[in-house]
Amino acid sequence: MRLNAPRVPDPADAPALRWGILGPGWIADELTTSLRRTKQEVVAVGSRSSERASAFAARHGIDPAHAHGSYEALVADDLVDVVYVATPHSEHHEHALLAIAAGRHVLVEKAFTATAAQARAVVDAARAADVFCMEAMWTRFLPHVDVIRDALERGVLGEVLAVHADHGQNLWPVGPRRLADPRLAGGALLDLGIYPLSFAHLVLGELELRSVDGELTPEGVDEWVVATLAAAGSPGSRPRLAHVSTSMGVRTPTTASVCGTWARLDVDGDFYAPSQVRLVGNDGMVLGAWGRAAGTDHGGLRYQAAELARRVTAGEKESPLMPLDDSIHLMELMDAIRARL
Ligand SMILES: NC(=O)c1ccc[n+]([C@@H]2O[C@H](COP(=O)([O-])OP(=O)(O)OC[C@H]3O[C@@H](n4cnc5c(N)ncnc54)[C@H](OP(=O)(O)O)[C@@H]3O)[C@@H](O)[C@H]2O)c1
Repeated sequence: MRLNAPRVPDPADAPALRWGILGPGWIADELTTSLRRTKQEVVAVGSRSSERASAFAARHGIDPAHAHGSYEALVADDLVDVVYVATPHSEHHEHALLAIAAGRHVLVEKAFTATAAQARAVVDAARAADVFCMEAMWTRFLPHVDVIRDALERGVLGEVLAVHADHGQNLWPVGPRRLADPRLAGGALLDLGIYPLSFAHLVLGELELRSVDGELTPEGVDEWVVATLAAAGSPGSRPRLAHVSTSMGVRTPTTASVCGTWARLDVDGDFYAPSQVRLVGNDGMVLGAWGRAAGTDHGGLRYQAAELARRVTAGEKESPLMPLDDSIHLMELMDAIRARL
């Protein structure tokens, strides 16, 4: 019983694409900075304001001629191969459709959209336009997650019967406005809870919702959520369960565990960013480890961009590591969870 090294290729070796940033906010700065460690080129930016586009271009060495004062101008810029949609959740649907209609490949920040209906519309449009489309669930492309994937493929844990995953941040009531605002599809679940949910889905496959608890803020978005889900088709007598939790009020350990009959995998916080995985026997002995706990290192964003660049260059339209049907399923689950709140 041991952990293998990750099979993830070096992101620095992925073929270069020319990226256009749609919505120059916090995460757009992080991705662009991370891409400096690769061959990817950020060549254009679009903002609702010319000043913010110019400021972003100046920060990141983008030619001012490609700093656009509208998203329409950005997607029309023929220098751009792929558009990165980095606006609030409420806007992903409209902005992804805008990029797709202009014939651009598109990387859409998590959560993919605000609802499953919107997710289906984006996926249908991308498939009809024959462009690449992917949710920017960067965790799925990180090396330590490939170590987990490999261990599961080799059956190292025995029968996997439980996943525990959590993500809590202290971002409310004092924090980014978009998290508090229902009009911007705020709340913990879409912003943070998507990580444990997507992780549980990675391990267990299609999920069915069993129970939900949580609390809404006075403005009507979820402050915290605890949900139990079961792998679709797992026996009622011995279901394969996922326990996921999220909060935007308190900073929680943000760890994850995959529990099998022979052993379990523990992922240190923050599990969704580059982290350490430990293989732990049922007697509590650590049998192997890979990676290092690194806090929240957004340098890992470059792995998802490298995956996209490789797939696009190969003529593929989606990634098997984050398929579009998975993004739709996850949005359906989040619709169902929020409906129960
Ligand atoms: N992968 C990660 O680790 C990670 C981390 C943080 C956030 N995210 C995701 O990235 C997305 C953006 O988050 P963020 O924290 O970067 O947000 P942010 O700092 O508020 O930036 C969002 C940008 O979207 C644009 N925008 C367009 N319509 C808007 C509207 N109606 N209200 C506010 N801004 C609007 C704004 O740019 P202009 O007005 O200049 O055009 C703004 O700068 C979200 O989907 C979030 O879940 C991912």
